Amino acid sequence: MHNSCKIINTLKSSPGYVSGEAISRELNISRAGIWKHIKELRQEGYTIEARPRRGYNLVAVPDKLYPAEIQFGLRTACLGRRIVHVEQADSTQQLALRLCLEGAQEGTLVCAESQTSGKGRLGRVWASPGGQGIYMSLILRPSMPLTNLAPVTLLSAVAMCEAVRSMTDLKVQIKWPNDLLLNKKKIAGILTELQAEMDHVKFVIVGMGLNVNTPARYLPEQATSLKQESKTKWSRLDLMKAILERYEHWYDNFKSQGAAPVLRRWRKYSSTTGKQVTLSDQYGRVEGEAIDIDEWGGLIIRTATGVVVKRMSGDIVAEALIKT
Ligand code: BTN
Repeated sequence: MHNSCKIINTLKSSPGYVSGEAISRELNISRAGIWKHIKELRQEGYTIEARPRRGYNLVAVPDKLYPAEIQFGLRTACLGRRIVHVEQADSTQQLALRLCLEGAQEGTLVCAESQTSGKGRLGRVWASPGGQGIYMSLILRPSMPLTNLAPVTLLSAVAMCEAVRSMTDLKVQIKWPNDLLLNKKKIAGILTELQAEMDHVKFVIVGMGLNVNTPARYLPEQATSLKQESKTKWSRLDLMKAILERYEHWYDNFKSQGAAPVLRRWRKYSSTTGKQVTLSDQYGRVEGEAIDIDEWGGLIIRTATGVVVKRMSGDIVAEALIKT
């Protein structure tokens, strides 16, 4: 851990002023060294008061997804134990891919304050204005055949949904397979990319974008942000920690117990099942009632003529209550 991170942690663990002498003794850094780090930390946006004879007082931390801030009090064993944070990325997916090819370990988190080419599914753009949202890519290296991996997409949505619900109390729902909706508008999206052979997954990069405090002017019409809907500013750091913790919980659960428990949870948050839907994929459109998901997370639709079809991927372009 960097000395400046250690200083921040020391200041956080004791409210009020901490003397330079105490920090120096605890961390074995000279008084001049401490002062140098304090100046650097102020440049990064930390508000630290310094008083002669009293020492240093941490007044405010910057609204940034700095690794030391994410890791402070983070209750995970693997996810987010290594973090690469950049001010601006083309896409965190691209950066994560480069790191994967260099051998980055499972659980590595890549996050950015802004993205210049944020990627959505099917070649779409993901709006990524600076400091407003969470733009993160998680590197996983599950040891399983490719055929077992499909539920990971739905798992990611469950983890994000529970994280947002626990931090905000907002009744976020999941639109199949893995969009998060609030008041019927999209607040988060997940892009899963991977490299694999049939019997061996090399790595998975789970890209998650969450519109936290994003103003409407940056977002497409059918999207919104937590702040837009609740008129409250939310802490990206707290949300990020909650996502990592819920993700680790469900990922471990999936590896030890299979997909059934997480898919049960997915059904609980689903906005799609039980609705009249129109699904569009490379084969065309299917209309009917979304009756359930199968054991892999595929969507089961019963058409008006009573034919039951399954789809593993596609876009729900319309979702409506069933008329009785
Ligand atoms: C979608 O709903 O179309 C998926 C959106 C995924 C966006 C995230 S933001 C972090 C990561 N980096 C990207 O370029 N895309 C994903």
